[in-house]
Amino acid sequence: MKNIQELSREEAAAELAELAAKIAKADNAYYQNDAPDLTDAEYDVLKHRNAAIEALFPDLVREDSPSKRVGAAVQSRFGKIEHRFPMLSLGDVFSLAEVEDFILGVKRFLNTSENIAFMAEPKIDGLSFSARYEYGEFVSGATRGDGVTGEDITENLKTIKQLPRRLPATAPRIMEVRGEVYMAKKDFFALNEKNMAEKKKVFANPRNAAAGSLRQLNPQITAERKLSIWAYTWGEVSERQWNTQEDFFAKLHEWGFPTNPLNKVCSSLSEVENNFNHIMEIRADLPYDIDGVVYKVNDLNLQDRLGFLTRTPRWAIAHKFPAEQAITRINNIRIQVGRTGALTPVADLEPINVGGVMVSHATLHNEDEIKRKDIRIGDMVVVQRAGDVIPQIVEVKKEHRPAGLPEFVFPDKCPECGAHAVREEDEAIRRCTGGLTCPAQAKERLKHFVSKDAFDIVGLGNKVIEEFYDDGILKNPADIFTLEERNGTDNEYDLFAVFSAEGLHLEKREGWGKLSVNNLFAAIRNRRNISLPRFIYALGIPQVGSATALLLAKNYGSFDNLQKEMCAAETAKLVAIDGIGGEMGNDIVAFFAEEHNLKVIENLRKYVTVEDYENAEISDSPISGKTVVFTGTLEKMTRAEAKALAQKYGAKVAGSVSTHTDYVIMGTDAGSKAKKAEELGIKVLSETEFVEMLQQNQSEE
Ligand code: IVH
Repeated sequence: MKNIQELSREEAAAELAELAAKIAKADNAYYQNDAPDLTDAEYDVLKHRNAAIEALFPDLVREDSPSKRVGAAVQSRFGKIEHRFPMLSLGDVFSLAEVEDFILGVKRFLNTSENIAFMAEPKIDGLSFSARYEYGEFVSGATRGDGVTGEDITENLKTIKQLPRRLPATAPRIMEVRGEVYMAKKDFFALNEKNMAEKKKVFANPRNAAAGSLRQLNPQITAERKLSIWAYTWGEVSERQWNTQEDFFAKLHEWGFPTNPLNKVCSSLSEVENNFNHIMEIRADLPYDIDGVVYKVNDLNLQDRLGFLTRTPRWAIAHKFPAEQAITRINNIRIQVGRTGALTPVADLEPINVGGVMVSHATLHNEDEIKRKDIRIGDMVVVQRAGDVIPQIVEVKKEHRPAGLPEFVFPDKCPECGAHAVREEDEAIRRCTGGLTCPAQAKERLKHFVSKDAFDIVGLGNKVIEEFYDDGILKNPADIFTLEERNGTDNEYDLFAVFSAEGLHLEKREGWGKLSVNNLFAAIRNRRNISLPRFIYALGIPQVGSATALLLAKNYGSFDNLQKEMCAAETAKLVAIDGIGGEMGNDIVAFFAEEHNLKVIENLRKYVTVEDYENAEISDSPISGKTVVFTGTLEKMTRAEAKALAQKYGAKVAGSVSTHTDYVIMGTDAGSKAKKAEELGIKVLSETEFVEMLQQNQSEE
């Protein structure tokens, strides 16, 4: 290959043309046919060479240049695009019987007893787009919006390599191709992993990730995300060149659009059923999420006759998978060792979308549960998500069990420290007897100690705790407060640098720098004063969650008081507290009877001041005595702060929406709770409205 500096103008132009064609072909092979004709490295060489030539000859940059696939313009907000042909939605059904009704309805409408063929298409769980071509050129793209008006995502769509920028001359002069933008499961996991490492937004499911990636004002960000598309319908068309949905897919394919290979014409109800069952079965193994199968009358003449209801076509329906359940594989059964030594079996699942949320783990509760359901590694299982609870395994699909899968044997030793794991006679739980010599228990306690509702130390995430523990930097909570002192200075002008060379020098660790270390120290210093409820909660007393910690704070007022009475096993007051039962009381007293725990507390209090609890509840606030639920991401405060604020104003904070809920405070990306509130007719407030309501109350005081 010639050195770029030596290229003549003509040569450069010729090579750019060649590169554009080669890269387009490679994109096509990779995305459309799933058969890359170039290795990643070869592909990169072409892209780089193209960019280098363009940099030298900017006026030769071609309209169809591969570099233009990255949208450049940064907009301040999305423009609106009115759909010339509305983007409709589909009616939902959940059973084969309802599909049969739908088919009968179609026949009745057409007044025919003849068999009708349907195109069955996987229902892609993404977000729909409309791409408009005029005289073969891609001119604009839009989201569905409310179906009538969508957002202008032209630049964002341009960054999706699978979307053709040009249609062949034979295509209609005006052609709107519609379909779904989605994020493949593997790209979703990779994105989340990366975001997690960078402390950026972690998406709940591939659909949200796709939406968040596509609806970026800066298309450069869209370009960095891996988005994919399937095309499946059309909007405005100047001349319709196809007579069936099947023909249309052939056209789309010919024009270079990805069409789902699982799309299939079904000519009878039994074919519909078989196809549906087949797709359900392979669902977990598909590289992308689907949430049902769409049936469309294949013959467009019939479609035209059937027409539309208000918002949905009469010729199509979505057969949704049963809600909140999905079938997937158990890849492994892990035994987690908790803060209190409890061994909890957890199933690692082949990740799957269950009712809109990606699920990759399910709790197995305890060893009896595994036995009762005869759950084995490698089994296909039905997972279920109910509300906000951790996913569970409903049943094992024994008919899918590979021959020779061994029974699962629950360990009688702690998998983390090797100590005996014992099960008290009347207990379902087996516990590690290693106490704090068990690294798992010690780490879990530390993680709990720094968690959001406890000391809330930003910078000490789970991974950091694990590393610091393993490297002997943090063994118990008090060590957190000596970190700065033990770190040594990194001030290069420091005359005592010779001595400080002996410190921990966290800033030299991988993933850390001066700034992040200083931030961490600042965060820790900030927590040297801590509220009583947070402190109690942070201790990790078995069964004592933040609500109980608050009750204890309210009833004892100071930590000294609490400790004094607990150490004296003075339980009369304790168990009289509404919300603290006998079992819990025993656990609390037992905690304070443990010498080691008292030592931890004593050490900690050398560095930490525990504030006394003042009963600061405001009783005449608009939310006093009411039950509120928070959902979504709050912008102005953390969840924990919001909760504290609500409680300060006399409200009870609940985790899920029910008929007892008075207010739902909704942040961004609110999910099912907001929907439920709406269904139940519960008052929904934005975060701002909520804060304003409380402030108003204050100014009236
Ligand atoms: S056809 C008039 N086909 O489902 C028919 N929609 O519930 C318009 N979807 O907004 C849609 N896969 O986002 C169609 N193969 C498919 C689909 C599909 C997913 C989505 C689409 C639409 C929603 C309707």
